[in-house]
Amino acid sequence: MLSPRLNVVAACLAASLSVVSGQTFQRLGTCPTLGCVLPPDQQDFLPGQQFDLRFEVHAPVNGSEAFNGGVPDEKFTATIAKDGGQPKSIAAFFNHTEPALEKWTFQWYEDLFAVDAKTPSVVNVASKIYRRIALYEPGSYTVTLKYYSGETTTATWTVRPLATQKKAKNVIFFIGDGMTTNMITAARLLAHKTVNGKYQSLLQLDKFPVLGHQMTHSIDSFLTDSANSASALYSGHKSTVNAMGVYADSSPDAYDDPKVETIVELIHRIWGSAWGAVSTAFIADATPTALTAHTRSRYNYGPLIDQALNGVQNYSWTNSGGPDAYFGGGAEQFLPGSGSYLGKDYYAEFAKKGYSVSLNKTSLLAAPNTQKALGIFCKSNLPVWLERNVFPENLKKFTNDPSGAKASATDLPGLKEMTLKAIDVLHTRGGEKGFFLMSEAASIDKQMHVLDYDRALGDLLELDDTVRATIEKLKSIGELENTLIVVSADHGHGFDVFGSADTKYLAAQKDDRTKRNAIGVYQNSGLSQYTVEHPGTSYGTGANFPVNWDPRYVIAAGLGANPDHREGYGVDKTGPRVPAATIAGKGSSDYYVNPTDQPSGFVVNGTLPTNEAQGVHSLTDVPVFAMGPCQGDFSGTFGNVDLFYKIADCLGLAHGTNKTRPCVA
Ligand SMILES: *[C@@H]1O[C@H](CO)[C@@H](O)[C@H](O)[C@H]1NC(C)=O
Ligand SMILES: *[C@@H]1O[C@H](CO)[C@@H](O)[C@H](O)[C@H]1NC(C)=O
Ligand SMILES: *[C@@H]1O[C@H](CO)[C@@H](O)[C@H](O)[C@H]1NC(C)=O
Ligand SMILES: *[C@@H]1O[C@H](CO)[C@@H](O)[C@H](O)[C@H]1NC(C)=O
Ligand SMILES: *[C@@H]1O[C@H](CO)[C@@H](O)[C@H](O)[C@H]1NC(C)=O
Ligand SMILES: *[C@@H]1O[C@H](CO)[C@@H](O)[C@H](O)[C@H]1NC(C)=O
Ligand SMILES: [Zn+2]
Repeated sequence: MLSPRLNVVAACLAASLSVVSGQTFQRLGTCPTLGCVLPPDQQDFLPGQQFDLRFEVHAPVNGSEAFNGGVPDEKFTATIAKDGGQPKSIAAFFNHTEPALEKWTFQWYEDLFAVDAKTPSVVNVASKIYRRIALYEPGSYTVTLKYYSGETTTATWTVRPLATQKKAKNVIFFIGDGMTTNMITAARLLAHKTVNGKYQSLLQLDKFPVLGHQMTHSIDSFLTDSANSASALYSGHKSTVNAMGVYADSSPDAYDDPKVETIVELIHRIWGSAWGAVSTAFIADATPTALTAHTRSRYNYGPLIDQALNGVQNYSWTNSGGPDAYFGGGAEQFLPGSGSYLGKDYYAEFAKKGYSVSLNKTSLLAAPNTQKALGIFCKSNLPVWLERNVFPENLKKFTNDPSGAKASATDLPGLKEMTLKAIDVLHTRGGEKGFFLMSEAASIDKQMHVLDYDRALGDLLELDDTVRATIEKLKSIGELENTLIVVSADHGHGFDVFGSADTKYLAAQKDDRTKRNAIGVYQNSGLSQYTVEHPGTSYGTGANFPVNWDPRYVIAAGLGANPDHREGYGVDKTGPRVPAATIAGKGSSDYYVNPTDQPSGFVVNGTLPTNEAQGVHSLTDVPVFAMGPCQGDFSGTFGNVDLFYKIADCLGLAHGTNKTRPCVA
């Protein structure tokens, strides 16, 4: 650990500081000492990538770190030096005016005892932020913050030597949210036949020429959420859970945190390319909005849609130009009302800026490819592939019409239709300048959270089918050779298959222990029944999907992290699972087995805190599939931020020392 200790304070304080550092409750995750540099130590940069630099000096008023009577040093100074050279003041180095001093107070809990006792530690802060600066020349930079007469915090940054020339004209980045190798293996078993152990057909993902491994660790915790992981993938800068496009600071304002430029802001500024985002989630959800969002809180849905369209409004910042294609769910942030920014009608706001607006599949497919296109097809997330294709009668249970009418959205596109349409729009609009498209299969994650393995795997197969169709599409428009296709995930869930379950025998047993004997392990797992047609249960959903979603012998699967729930296995034909529920008279966030979920199953006691209603993300590395220009760069094991640098290198996004490159900020 590079962080210097406070050597001016008494030994007892130094001892207690070492107790505090590295714990799960953090004063500010990226700042173990009382002087903070954001971006912190060990961060990497793309040459020319814009960012904000914040310094904070903390003065804990009370708690184990209490210091200096709670009075922060307001006279702190900071320097930057390149490759061991002469340090220069930040203002001089970046030719930036000296920013005003900011002050605020925040609170945090040091551990669970403090939470129970409701005794937060209070911290006073003095801070300065240098906004919208960039480092152009590759090399190693050392930033030194000096405070409390003699304390220093240093941050060593690396500006990577990356290409200024394009190797790929277009990039399509597919994200299977929460998707792991285990899930891909299970999806293959469901959809593809074997003969004597040999697969007769394969997933499209199985046919990718290059496979790598991505480590998802967040900047200040080893488990990540979809906000900070998306941010790492899109900007090359790790962040904190719930934060996107920023390094989380300690201030109360969720928008003033130091920002980093994202892939779509870069590609728009540097090449003027078209870009788009497609998701089966509500479009304000973390994975799609992290392309343009700069906030400490992913839950600011309305403002984030405004940022996607108009860019950051209240701080000087580079702009993505707005998406050329933006397709998904989440009408709540577009209909005028409590879910939209300032209560405005965002269908109208997008239309004013020249967008076609589609609220169903028919009008999406008819939208002109020459115009920017918005498509919002329902409230909340899109109903999953299984509902859209196997149990369409369930669609009528939703009141999710995107126009706000009290009706069900039934003319829904899937990931494939949205992605192919986005390619048409982006190819037309990007022309020779190319395009960047992010396409997310969101409900792999969402359905794994609720332990609905069938629905999660259905959406994974929809992703695979979409990738297959994308390759065909690119071939047909003559762009396959020009396009880098990357398929990866943002994090995983601890899912795997460990046998089969005889649903008939399981339902016939009376007690939990005998029900478990319905599970066949090793040789009793048998063969996949999902690829075998049965009279009356053939759903005819196409070559890349199971022919029978409801066989007697189903996969027995599970997650490492569960709420209390009941496991009966087999597809739930009435809609997505709700595994855990609260009990009347007990706490409002105290979850037990949901008595109406999988009623023929046996009880599995949870492994999670009792306030978790769903499964949670897990630590696993996630796969990276690559094909096209630069594909060879994606093999091996690397961090999530490296994925950004590999894509940026392939797109020639480094500004290098060429400050004359046109800057349309
Ligand atoms: C520094 O900034 C000022 C105004 O912001 C500008 O006039 C001047 O040219 C800049 N100097 C350099 C060396 O970039
Ligand atoms: C710190 O002070 C605040 C009030 O100023 C109090 O609420 C809190 O419990 C104190 N925390 C500790 C750890 O003593
Ligand atoms: C900054 O803009 C966001 C919307 O992007 C808004 O919610 C927030 O209130 C603004 N903050 C300030 C200080 O104006
Ligand atoms: C689809 O949207 C168009 C345009 O808003 C509308 O005219 C049409 O009736 C809609 N179709 C369906 C099936 O809802
Ligand atoms: C689940 O835990 C409860 C106590 O919380 C216990 O009474 C019950 O026997 C457990 N059930 C199983 C199947 O382990
Ligand atoms: C620098 O930018 C100019 C203007 O856009 C361009 O003509 C030149 O090729 C660039 N040089 C390099 C080395 O990228
Ligand atoms: Zn998730």
